Amino acid sequence: MEKTLVLIKPDAFANHHTGDIIQRYEQEGLRIVALKMLRMDDRLASIHYAEHIGRPYYEGLCTFMTSGPLVAMVLEGEDAIRRVRALNGKTNPAEAAEGTIRKAYALDGRRNAVHASDSPESAAREISIFFNQTEIYDG
Ligand code: PPS
Repeated sequence: MEKTLVLIKPDAFANHHTGDIIQRYEQEGLRIVALKMLRMDDRLASIHYAEHIGRPYYEGLCTFMTSGPLVAMVLEGEDAIRRVRALNGKTNPAEAAEGTIRKAYALDGRRNAVHASDSPESAAREISIFFNQTEIYDG
């Protein structure tokens, strides 16, 4: 079983898509093992997006991600990292396939509804940024 971090970004949260997005993951058989609502601050954004520091979109990404509440969760399942990214769809909604979360809800390349870890290494790192061991259900 694999775990991955998902963030429902401030745009999707503000537009009341949280419930539908969670339902899509659950309907695909992914299991929620941790979940919380929070607002990122600059420090948390710079840790989470450390590998993007210096990219042209970095400042805008951090400003957006700290602009309002978001939902963080850990999903578990077989091949969860790949499956969640497939459900999310491409970063740019103009390129996202029909049936994906970003096709349905992303507004543009910044306000793109969801984030998910892209490798086992990033999943382990990102999960530890948002959750303590005691907050992750391991039954
Ligand atoms: S890369 O270069 O492949 O790593 O880039 P990508 O995975 O496509 O994007 C990385 C994250 O940056 C966000 N992004 C942007 N934010 C704001 N403005 C612009 N123009 C922009 N372009 C990309 C993108 O949504 C990714 O965020 P996460 O949270 O990782 O999905």
